[in-house]
Amino acid sequence: MEKPSQSSKVSRMSYSSRLQQLDSFLAETASLWQPQPFKVRRPTWCSDHPELTHALLALDAPSLAYFASDQKALIDFISTHIAQITLIPSLTELPTAPSKQHHLIAPHQSSGIPGRKWQQITSLYHCLEKPAFAITEWCGGKAYLGQLLAREWQQQVITLEQNAQLIESGQVAADKQGVDQTFAMVDVLKDSVSQYLSHHHTIALHACGDLHRELIKQIIRTNAPSFTIIPCCYHLGHHTNYTPFNCSLKLQLSRETLRLAVNETVTAHHNEVQNRNLDMAWKLGFQQLRAALTKSSEYHAFKPVPKAWLKGDFKEYCEKLSEREQLTLPEHVDWQTWENSAHQRQHDVLRLQLLRQCFKRVLELWLIMDMAVYLEQHDYIVSVHTFCKRTITPRNIIIEGKRRLPF
Ligand SMILES: C[S@@+](CC[C@H](N)C(=O)[O-])C[C@H]1O[C@@H](n2cnc3c(N)ncnc32)[C@H](O)[C@@H]1O
Repeated sequence: MEKPSQSSKVSRMSYSSRLQQLDSFLAETASLWQPQPFKVRRPTWCSDHPELTHALLALDAPSLAYFASDQKALIDFISTHIAQITLIPSLTELPTAPSKQHHLIAPHQSSGIPGRKWQQITSLYHCLEKPAFAITEWCGGKAYLGQLLAREWQQQVITLEQNAQLIESGQVAADKQGVDQTFAMVDVLKDSVSQYLSHHHTIALHACGDLHRELIKQIIRTNAPSFTIIPCCYHLGHHTNYTPFNCSLKLQLSRETLRLAVNETVTAHHNEVQNRNLDMAWKLGFQQLRAALTKSSEYHAFKPVPKAWLKGDFKEYCEKLSEREQLTLPEHVDWQTWENSAHQRQHDVLRLQLLRQCFKRVLELWLIMDMAVYLEQHDYIVSVHTFCKRTITPRNIIIEGKRRLPF
């Protein structure tokens, strides 16, 4: 008999075993992915793995761009230095959702919908089964998905949204199409939502952080019959620390740490990447200047810096930031030297952070399995798949569930 590969063994494991496996792996490797080179000049792993540190710092710009955009190549490269990294592909493997809708949607229906959003909602549609219940679209935004489902399935859809303008434009579009879609202006974190869940199939596409976590709690509270959730922006929410649904987990994370799970460049445009790099270099430069002036290397968090400040020069940027951060600048500053040092530091950060980039999907799977297992524990039959390529959306994981029927 053929021996099963490590990866097929992983995909046949129960979600609960996978969660435990991911939890142990992340806890054991925390020193590799928790320290942020942006905040810590040389994480301790640099002295534990001097050859890897040297190899990363020596990467030229094309190699850096290659590894930053190709997760598989990055993992292969780093695996030659740290054996534990070889486990990541199997730990993060997920099956693709089977196709359930086979007819093609008429291309003219995409009119007015941004290209990538259209690809997301049509990919999602093709792997959804028409539910037996009316549909609730959770935090629907412009409600493109709800509209498509109402039209293709001739099914009643109610879209929950808190933004009045989005509701108004969504209702106009739905009426124009003649679909059975209505909107409810609801703050899903504060208002009562049970009437929209208890006899509905709820779909949440890219409901951020607390919005998808609240949905999971409400599904259980209301005994909702079935659901489809595509989570995103895990780090967004009210609490400083992340509280996992399962209390037996080893990892205790701050909400900020969850940013790693969504730290992606796959859908970023060239200009966005350039602006982000400049923003990073100048922040690092300011930090170095502040550390030298205050004689403290302790990292201070920044409030977001206005994008317009990047349009001037480094000196102006630091002057504005010093005023905001109440740092007194000396009369004479050698701005050129500080700016050079900022770019050197950014060069190192971009390379050293490649190691923690290897773990982003592991962390995301840990979050996903935490939700899946919790739902299973509350009598739902749950499945987890990917529904599209990561270039269409990196948040491409779909959690589906149906309430287990009583015997
Ligand atoms: C990331 S968008 C997703 C929109 C849509 N599902 C999609 O994928 O295009 C999240 C939406 O949630 C809405 N939202 C945020 N907080 C909310 C709340 N507390 N109650 C209801 N809607 C909320 C926002 O206005 C926004 O339209």
